Amino acid sequence: GEMGGCPMGHGDGGVRALLGRTNRDWWPEMLATEILNPNGATNPYGEEFNYAEAFNALDYDALKADLKALMTDSQPWWPADYGHYGPFFIRMAWHAAGTYRTADGRGGANSGQQRFAPLDSWPDNGNLDKARRLLWPIKQKYGKNISWADLFILAGNVAIEDMGGPVFGFGGGRADVFEPERDIYWGSEDKWVNQGVQTRIAPEHGMHELEGPLAAIQMGLIYVNPEGPGGNPDPLLSARDMKATFERMAMNHEETVALTAGGHTFGKAHGNGDPSTLGHAPAGSDLVAQGFGWVSGEEHGGIGEHTVTSGIEGSWVNTPTQWSENYFRLLLDYEYELVKSPAGAQQWQPINQREEDMAPAAWDPNKKVPTMMTTADMALKVDPEFRVISEKFRNDHEAFKDAFARAWFKLTHRDMGPKARYLGPEVPAEDLIWQDPVPAGTMPSDAEVAAVKAKIADSGLTVSQLIKTAWASASTYRKSDHRGGANGARVALEPQRNWEVNEPDMLAKVIDTLNGLRGNMSLADAIVLGGVVGLEKAGAAGVPFTGGRGDATQDQTDAESFAVMEPEADAFRNYVGKKKLAVKTEEMMLDRASLLGLSVPEMVVLIGGLRVLGANHGERGHGHFTNRSGQLTNDFFVNLLDMTNVWKSVEGSDDQEYVATDRAEGKERWRATRADLIFGSNSELRAICEVYAEKGGQERFVTDFVKAWTKVMNADRFDLPQNKQSN
Ligand code: HEM
Repeated sequence: GEMGGCPMGHGDGGVRALLGRTNRDWWPEMLATEILNPNGATNPYGEEFNYAEAFNALDYDALKADLKALMTDSQPWWPADYGHYGPFFIRMAWHAAGTYRTADGRGGANSGQQRFAPLDSWPDNGNLDKARRLLWPIKQKYGKNISWADLFILAGNVAIEDMGGPVFGFGGGRADVFEPERDIYWGSEDKWVNQGVQTRIAPEHGMHELEGPLAAIQMGLIYVNPEGPGGNPDPLLSARDMKATFERMAMNHEETVALTAGGHTFGKAHGNGDPSTLGHAPAGSDLVAQGFGWVSGEEHGGIGEHTVTSGIEGSWVNTPTQWSENYFRLLLDYEYELVKSPAGAQQWQPINQREEDMAPAAWDPNKKVPTMMTTADMALKVDPEFRVISEKFRNDHEAFKDAFARAWFKLTHRDMGPKARYLGPEVPAEDLIWQDPVPAGTMPSDAEVAAVKAKIADSGLTVSQLIKTAWASASTYRKSDHRGGANGARVALEPQRNWEVNEPDMLAKVIDTLNGLRGNMSLADAIVLGGVVGLEKAGAAGVPFTGGRGDATQDQTDAESFAVMEPEADAFRNYVGKKKLAVKTEEMMLDRASLLGLSVPEMVVLIGGLRVLGANHGERGHGHFTNRSGQLTNDFFVNLLDMTNVWKSVEGSDDQEYVATDRAEGKERWRATRADLIFGSNSELRAICEVYAEKGGQERFVTDFVKAWTKVMNADRFDLPQNKQSN
């Protein structure tokens, strides 16, 4: 019971810490470089670096030719199986992309995180340190014109192409970062998959649902344990885990089958040796290993035919470096029996395999060895639903090729945001629904903006309604996968227009009114302009507005894929939904602020301002510490820090609601939530509140609020210079 029981939703106030276990917990001795990076790692290419410009200056064809040559240029320190690194690079690319999860959009290939802990040291990423190192001469040659993040995915694409597989396209534009992501939750367990901790879905342990937002079944895995849940070689249970985890990455069951089968059409698993001789993972490895992990203690060095990675041994098909129809043929035509690899892993072997169906040995093309399937592969044969899909693909190879190519493209581009962010000559023309397409907008003229502004001001819409609507529209943005935001006005479409956090009736009224007066201006622009009018009514002057947004249609919107973005809480509107939260309310707030790309002062100033503007959900009065509602004042901060208040938890609220009374008279004064009182309780947040409450604070507050507000409104404007693709 390392997880302390059910990880989801029992007890108010959260059941786990926001970040769970972090690098410092795993490797206390790791050099604490973060003390030099209090605000995040600086970009060594310089503040002004624009990756999109650098990528566009790249000799793309030369780079691809170099990658192709690399595929068969076997190196003595890590020789290529069958003389071809292609399968190895496909696994590297898949594991780079496969950490993505839909719930918060984090993970994925888009910042080159596989270079850093903990990912570089996850058991499932075993020996991918060698794959990345093989790419170094190419990275070195092209320098800043190609990021590691792009290189990982492009190497996977070139590998598939070079082995005759189908490829749908490639978009560059993944700018590298230079430190591990600090804001991501990878789980709370204190043991990794190879240390025998129980699986995250285990009905026998009362866990029926995979813990949100995670998309892997155990710590240290990309998805599922290849040997079956918790090492139990049961293909049906493996199918259950595969469905749960791939769904978390926005893959339906057909895409899941296509991806796994297409991937395992190539390469081999490695388990021809004794795993107990392997040294530490890269993050805990010796200095002389120079970043390599899992160094073998055996005399032969544990390379080539002695490699141990997963512990499973063998290839899936008889033609491991060539695209073929063999995966489904071998999977479906043979019966399989459970056997053990030399490293002791459970795997499945075809019964009475014909010699022509056997694979060449990776180190001796003249020697034949049996093929194998993992328990996860067997799931595609044994699970009734997967089986139907497997047979369909077996009978229609063109459908399989198309499904694999498209699913691979989605896998590797899912976290890049709208197509406008894709770079290079191989971006497919076709629009795909998961790209959340938005038609191009037109820039409204100054006269048009002035006219619509005047009409909004006269429309009878209140400051509160205008601010709430603009916030509802823009604040869905998340920098993790660049989805959401005001562009497209999807707040007026399903499912967003019916989200409880958005107050559907109020929202519909505001949208109707804006639609009636906006003329040729897009609704998306009119909503943001409404926010500007709201702020100016509240006393701000000269609030900037940049138009040019487009409006998406319902047809261009995959309602299901937006449903996962529904906020369970939004501290900015002082909203907490009915669902029990996995983390504390104030941690949900921090998480949302992080996804919006806000700094601590930006979060503080936005909350303080939104409260007095009346942006709370519904008629909720919590945190509305002002007697001048709808005016942009620093009252929230002044009243929060006022020592004549005495705060108490409201009985029965389970520490979710609080009341302030007058210290002398005992009269009730204010009500608050955790997302209000944390600002007076936490010393760092309090320090910033003081700046806004003290002399000069009102002026600073208005200026900073308008700036932070505008940043949120424009967060998804990838066409604006301040949102350049640097990191
Ligand atoms: C290799 C498991 C999905 C592509 C492997 C290995 C395992 C594994 C155990 C052997 C690693 C080693 O010992 O070297 C799984 C499981 C999956 C899955 C459990 C999902 C349920 C995928 C997907 C792709 C893929 C979606 C790509 C589209 C590959 C390739 C290799 C490989 C190309 C061979 C690497 C090499 O030859 O070095 N996989 N895999 N796998 N996997 Fe998967």
